[in-house]
Amino acid sequence: MARRTKVYEGKAKILYEGPEPDTLVQYFKDDATAFNAEKREVIDGKGVLNNRLSEFFMVGLGQIGVPTHFIKRLNMREQLIRACEIIPLEIVVRNVAAGSMSKRLGIEEGTPLPRPIIEFCLKDDKLGDPLVTEEHIIAFNWASQQDLDDIVALSLRVNDFLSGCMLAVGIKLVDFKIEVGRVWDGDFQRLILADEISPDSCRLWDIETGKKLDKDVFRRDLGSLTDAYTEVARRLGVMPANS
Ligand code: C5P
Repeated sequence: MARRTKVYEGKAKILYEGPEPDTLVQYFKDDATAFNAEKREVIDGKGVLNNRLSEFFMVGLGQIGVPTHFIKRLNMREQLIRACEIIPLEIVVRNVAAGSMSKRLGIEEGTPLPRPIIEFCLKDDKLGDPLVTEEHIIAFNWASQQDLDDIVALSLRVNDFLSGCMLAVGIKLVDFKIEVGRVWDGDFQRLILADEISPDSCRLWDIETGKKLDKDVFRRDLGSLTDAYTEVARRLGVMPANS
């Protein structure tokens, strides 16, 4: 394989320079990390599953008019994406109390929320991705008020789409995290959905049994992560690609 230029390496993915200007190749690793990488393991096949699942969700979102960075899948572990300037926020949408929100506010895990709640965290591993308010975001110029309005609208559309996809296969979308980036068409700035959507970045519970089918299986030592992700892919009709 030709030597490629690595642009960025994160905990679960690597970005390489793409073949065309303004493109990147996003490589999905098998590494699983949790608690800001204090817990880590290599899980055979996770990258393949997340590449396929993220493709599935990004293509579906594109079809309903949500702009995404996804261009095409290249092989089992890689996809071609549009380069964008990532806004340094992790945007979490919650439908049911769980995880850090349950801990922070003392709300029992599994409590349905009266409406979807959007939270913003600063993307900064050294600080442990702290929760920030809209005031912080605007005061420190991480995004404008217009960006925030667009991010909220986009997040709610993603939530509707993903909730529906999951409900159709007997899975409750408890919460998820997305990242958003800027692209320019001439002088005109647009926001697009970036990064990935996969069971690494969502909480997914079986509606009947409550069984967890997401990264909490790894975080909380609940069994095989590959089995959980394969179950999600199987129900959605997304089988791991073999090319
Ligand atoms: O940990 P917390 O409850 O805040 O996570 C909310 C959602 O965001 C979960 O679905 C989790 O998987 C996702 N998340 C993520 N990456 C992070 C933090 C949270 O994908 N760095």
